[in-house]
Amino acid sequence: AEVIIVSSENEAGAIVADEIVRLIRANPETVLGLATGSTPLPVYEALRRRLEGVNVSRVRGFALDEYVGLDPAHPQSYRSVITREVVEPLGLAPELIRTPNGSLDGIEHAGDDYERAIVEAGGVDLQILGIGTSGHIGFNEPGSSFASLTRVKTLIEQTRHDNARFFDSVDDVPMHCITQGLGTILRARHLMLLAFGENKADAVAGAVEGPITASCPGSAIQLHPHATVVIDEAAASRLE
Ligand code: F6R
Repeated sequence: AEVIIVSSENEAGAIVADEIVRLIRANPETVLGLATGSTPLPVYEALRRRLEGVNVSRVRGFALDEYVGLDPAHPQSYRSVITREVVEPLGLAPELIRTPNGSLDGIEHAGDDYERAIVEAGGVDLQILGIGTSGHIGFNEPGSSFASLTRVKTLIEQTRHDNARFFDSVDDVPMHCITQGLGTILRARHLMLLAFGENKADAVAGAVEGPITASCPGSAIQLHPHATVVIDEAAASRLE
């Protein structure tokens, strides 16, 4: 992967946002792969100004993941998060921006449905990725197959603790999620992985320089012909 070390989260946001704007100008039907969590927020912030006056009415998007069994109207469902942080501020068409369906009703075919929708859209042009302290991308925790497609997974304790900040308590963080697989993510035409802060340094080192292994799902990016890693100094501190 190409590694870009930046001095601020805003600089990282600008680099990724510039690439997204370039894609949308060249193809108004660009398909974006969207991430949630804290890391991509500077990207969405930078896109706000940059997309003013750009026709985004046909831009499509697929979120990486969703909690299972959380009401889609819950403020922390990824449907809500994507609506609040991406769709509304950027003026995207809500019906063209998908999140995996995490409702229990129909969960057994939700993964296949999502895979089909991505294929029918022509595949993801640019996938934004964060990385968990466990090395996960999407919610593919250690042990996930590199060939995996969208499916239901169990969140590990570490991830539930990391995400407890979005809920009243760790007990309120759902146990299960539905996530694009590593195989799904690897099919995107360009991966842009962002990470900030010392607590991501080990995961970043594993993803960028470690052995390609299911113990560090992020290391799957080494198999991708076009992966860009945009990180701050702290997240880069354990690279050789
Ligand atoms: C989010 C996702 C996760 C996060 C990761 C980092 O859709 O799939 O892989 O990117 O957990 O989360 P933050 O950015 O909150 O540190």
